[in-house]
Amino acid sequence: MATALITGPTAGIGRAFADKLAIEGYDLVLVARDEARLKEVAAELTALHGVACEVIAADLTEPGQLAVVEERFRTGPIEVLVNNAGFGQKKPFWANTIEVEEKQFDLLVRVVLRLTHAAVLPMIERGSGAVVNVSSVAGFLQRGSYSAHKSWVTNFSAGLAIELHSRGVAVMALCPGFVHTEFHERMEMDKTIIPSFMWLDAVDLVDAAWADLMAGKSISIPSRRYKLISAAARYIPRTLIARLSTIGLDGRRRA
Ligand SMILES: NC(=O)c1ccc[n+]([C@@H]2O[C@H](COP(=O)([O-])OP(=O)(O)OC[C@H]3O[C@@H](n4cnc5c(N)ncnc54)[C@H](OP(=O)(O)O)[C@@H]3O)[C@@H](O)[C@H]2O)c1
Repeated sequence: MATALITGPTAGIGRAFADKLAIEGYDLVLVARDEARLKEVAAELTALHGVACEVIAADLTEPGQLAVVEERFRTGPIEVLVNNAGFGQKKPFWANTIEVEEKQFDLLVRVVLRLTHAAVLPMIERGSGAVVNVSSVAGFLQRGSYSAHKSWVTNFSAGLAIELHSRGVAVMALCPGFVHTEFHERMEMDKTIIPSFMWLDAVDLVDAAWADLMAGKSISIPSRRYKLISAAARYIPRTLIARLSTIGLDGRRRA
């Protein structure tokens, strides 16, 4: 059986990917920090879908722990990598400590760069494989460091997709809008300020993403509303985006 490695599979989008890939028949390697929760999710996935699950408890922002996950690509074939682990921040860049900003940069950019590199080398040798990098529609906007990191993820993935297509390796950036997960609770954001029609379901999102990957897309933007928003973002004057960017995720104008 083929094997898929997912970062951040214990909640939200990552958990939906774990179920989807198990249903598609992949054995799983699950990576997150909370080992007890990882083991619980692994047992559930095995009971539900009959797949084998390995767990690696690792804080991916710690270089030594990240190295353990990179090594896993050398010890046995991984056919699908889903770079999904991530977190957001309520406060603007300048109001966060540089240490917190660096952790976010490491998880959203450095980890994606390193794990993609570790994954694609053996995939190129085998002439097959797929990498899904979970980005965000925020990457089409200018909203602080999170947007900048996600913009990098989308651009990096779409560029790599072109380079690796002829080598049999698929790379895709998944750009979700707002999705019901633990993400917003973790950043202590009031979810009620976002209109209900803007929210996506993680299972629907992942089903659409998987269909896009199978169709050979390099950028997946699930749902018609977010396709429209992302297309519009290319044409909205920068001055309007700059004005919108002064509104924080708590809905209030930033000082
Ligand atoms: N939810 C949204 O509206 C939304 C929209 C666009 C994009 N995204 C992106 O989607 C991805 C998944 O987000 P989500 O909404 O599903 O978040 P979530 O529900 O908060 O889940 C985050 C997952 O990442 C793991 N994780 C967090 N920090 C980690 C670290 N340092 N090392 C290893 N694992 C770590 C968590 O497990 P542990 O805490 O046990 O480590 C958990 O499994 C992120 O990249 C996010 O930026 C989310």
